[in-house]
Amino acid sequence: MPNRGKFYITTPIYYPSDNLHIGHAYCSTAADSMARFKRMTGYDTYFLTGTDEHGQKIERKAKEKGVTPQAYVDHIVDGIKKLWKLMDIDYNDFIRTTDPRHVACVQKVFKKLYDQGDIYKSEYEGWYCTPCESFWTELQLKEGCCPDCGRPVEKAKEESYFFRMSKYQDWMIDYIQQHPDFIQPSSRANEMISNFLKPGLEDLCVSRTSIKWGIPVDFDPKHTVYVWVDALTNYISALGYGTDHDELYRRYWPADVHLVGKEIVRFHSIIWPIMLHAIGEPLPKQIFGHGWLVIDGKKMGKSVGNVVDPVILCNRYSSDAVRYFLMREMPFGADGEFTLRSMLTRINADLANDLGNLVSRTVAMIEKYFEGGIPNCADVQDVDKALWQLALDTPTSVENAVNAFQFSQALSAIWKLVGECNRYIDVTAPWILARNEADRPRLGTVLYTLAECVRRVAVMIGFVMPRTPERIFAQLGLEDRAEMTWDSLCDGQFCHLTCGTKVSKGEALFPRLDIEKELLRDQPKEEPKQEPSKVEKKPEKKGHSAPEFSEEISIEDFGKIKLQVARVLACEKVEKSKKLLKLRLSLGKDGERQVVSGIAQWYTPEEMVGKQVVLVANLKPAKLAGIESQGMVLCAATDNDEKLKLMTVEDGMDDGAIIG
Ligand code: ME8
Ligand code: MG
Repeated sequence: MPNRGKFYITTPIYYPSDNLHIGHAYCSTAADSMARFKRMTGYDTYFLTGTDEHGQKIERKAKEKGVTPQAYVDHIVDGIKKLWKLMDIDYNDFIRTTDPRHVACVQKVFKKLYDQGDIYKSEYEGWYCTPCESFWTELQLKEGCCPDCGRPVEKAKEESYFFRMSKYQDWMIDYIQQHPDFIQPSSRANEMISNFLKPGLEDLCVSRTSIKWGIPVDFDPKHTVYVWVDALTNYISALGYGTDHDELYRRYWPADVHLVGKEIVRFHSIIWPIMLHAIGEPLPKQIFGHGWLVIDGKKMGKSVGNVVDPVILCNRYSSDAVRYFLMREMPFGADGEFTLRSMLTRINADLANDLGNLVSRTVAMIEKYFEGGIPNCADVQDVDKALWQLALDTPTSVENAVNAFQFSQALSAIWKLVGECNRYIDVTAPWILARNEADRPRLGTVLYTLAECVRRVAVMIGFVMPRTPERIFAQLGLEDRAEMTWDSLCDGQFCHLTCGTKVSKGEALFPRLDIEKELLRDQPKEEPKQEPSKVEKKPEKKGHSAPEFSEEISIEDFGKIKLQVARVLACEKVEKSKKLLKLRLSLGKDGERQVVSGIAQWYTPEEMVGKQVVLVANLKPAKLAGIESQGMVLCAATDNDEKLKLMTVEDGMDDGAIIG
């Protein structure tokens, strides 16, 4: 394959949250599939991914868990790398924003912008959304909350450095309008212009003094570089930009595409290009904003708590099947509803039936009728030629679709060929040809045609399903690596397989799943680091008797429990229950909660009001006597419930304070 040029693709660098979910895997799978496709089709490809480890969010999480931010992120990054390995995400480099190479690069870029007057010192006063790590002006807030995620914002006022974005506003609008491919899908470009650029770009606050976990401004170290400026720079720091070893930068920059979720297109198509332009570097060729995996219409995410664990899915159904589903089911760019049922249905229909049957029938018939030796094509007819033509045309359709990030269309083009092959079997009916010695040349031609099509399909699916091709090639007895390449599909010749090659039937590529039975299994909703199937369901205990503690737990395990000080604002008896009280609790700035607690025998509603109690704040909500309880209030109790006392804190603690 001739070298067709370079191709540099990136995923966003992920926040190290406890566990990545299938939504993150979606983005990485798409980037990996694209990178594999480009490699296979002759591009000098570089694929970068990594983690975005600084900022207030991480600082707080680590604090909650009682570990240093570095220890916290190290642990999670290990898990992320394992997930990518499990899913065959074959990146060239994994950049961490805590890498010294990255830190140095960010400091250099910041200094350069400062020296040339694009960054200046002033005071910031406004609002900050910690989950999004975004600044907002009063006007941008939606009902007082973050306009992006709807969560509460915090007031921020401090000495800060500012980046003169306003200076570049007109240039940026112009650039986007002159380069229709720059932001894709193009609807997102219009959104950027009308929602963010046209209303006017304000200078961006690019440092914080109240946040310590981040990259210090080297010439003014009480300032920490704003996380998005830090994070975006990863795309060039990983290539050695600004160092003596910038070969990769010179070879691969500008990026061909930054693949990102739609909610962060804004940062990539406004802040990042302006930064690059200001330091005199070329812009990435494209920002592609993909849609979200949603459940019941809501973005899958940690905050909603509707996440599905990719590890469980891959272990149960194979990473190839999961990758196939992600790339096939939803048109890339739009949001797509994730359901286990739709995934299992796809696996059965497309993989077990269409592809699996084609491969097993082809190999089985060659074994049965030709003692396993691939026959030759002695009697080619129109029906064969039509299929040959489709097989010869399919790679072009696939390539066009993939280049436009239309993975679903690319796969459907391949499956059109698979479908036609299955139809061809029905039409040519090899089992009938096999009855007559005179039809042997026809039988041979049909089976050769099928085997060759199977080879082609195996080559074409490899960018999405990296493990399956090898298994198919093994069944076809194929050893010649050249016949496993994309190149072997593009010379206009149909016949590549060597007659006489011994095929051998292997096990089913994708065993058929009993969908209803699978749906009855524990759902692969996230259950950090523990397979749900291994969780023992103990019968619920009555009363307050202490749970049994059989083994020691790690500090991380303990850190999963969020304990907070809460004040009882109101309290009443639950109707028809002797045991239950309904409490309304204040968590200070974290809002209010309703909790139902079995303490009515020991405390009256009146004496509860005003007390500060200890709340297990991240317990899954449950219904008690039909009333939702959002957490649990801690008590000390004797084994037989003779005595019970509320846990409380010493006077003067703030409502909402974290305990741990
Ligand atoms: O935004 N469906 O990191 P992140 C599809 N650190 N994609 C999803 C998704 C879902 N349900 N949930 C998340 C950040 N993603 C920053 C990026 S880049 C310089 C810094 C995608 O961990 C999301 O859209 O919150 C984003 O592209 C990626 O996962 C990382 O999200
Ligand atoms: Mg996010």
